[in-house]
Amino acid sequence: MKVLITAGPTREPLDPVRYLTNRSSGKMGYALAQAFADAGHQVLLVSGPSQLDVPPGVDFLPIETADEMHQAVARHLPRMEAAVFAAAVADYRPATVAGQKIKKAGETLTLELVRTPDILGEARDKMGFDGILVGFAAETENLEANARDKLGRKRCDLIVANDVSKPDIGFDSDRNELLLVFPEHTVALPEDEKHHLARHVVKEIELLAAGRKS
Ligand code: PMT
Repeated sequence: MKVLITAGPTREPLDPVRYLTNRSSGKMGYALAQAFADAGHQVLLVSGPSQLDVPPGVDFLPIETADEMHQAVARHLPRMEAAVFAAAVADYRPATVAGQKIKKAGETLTLELVRTPDILGEARDKMGFDGILVGFAAETENLEANARDKLGRKRCDLIVANDVSKPDIGFDSDRNELLLVFPEHTVALPEDEKHHLARHVVKEIELLAAGRKS
């Protein structure tokens, strides 16, 4: 199966030396890329800035901003059979990027932010993707309800939900705890190494793909 995976944070520049970003390390997305490659699939990893090594056998496309991730996904999605969006994409970016370093002036500084493209939200309708579509949901409350709402609105086959309010798991950790939210049922994967969880997720996506073919 040809699979596109997004991973890591995005960086939204403010001036030549500053940017807005988040705590994503890329570990969850890279673990998925490795698990797919180990299972014999062809993987394209579209990743924001990360310290991690690219897993062997995985094609790699580094990006920085949400706009760059959007362009990379729009270009490569049409030839994919599955896509898994594990990246923590900025929902907003600075409205303008200053050409020079912003100087301190008053006691406060107000930034104007504008929306970035909703890459997952565009996959079905604007990009016309009809393969297996898997989104993530990073929630701090109402995990299953919010994930199920996302599943319908973004027309996904599966939402992988994680509670990012729990210390020691989720963002920038080797461990996570996942709730796999399908249209008809939910599967809870208890806390474990991201590499182990990734293998479970890959098996579930293989089953979804096999179900499509039969
Ligand atoms: O990278 P790690 O340190 O290992 O951390 C893993 C993780 C916590 C980042 C990961 O498990 C995770 O939850 N990834 C999704 C983070 C997120 O931004 O969730 P969200 O609920 O805000 O977004 C929902 C979905 O839409 C996600 O699939 C996201 O990739 C996608 N999205 C979001 C915004 C946007 N502009 N475009 C998108 O495609």
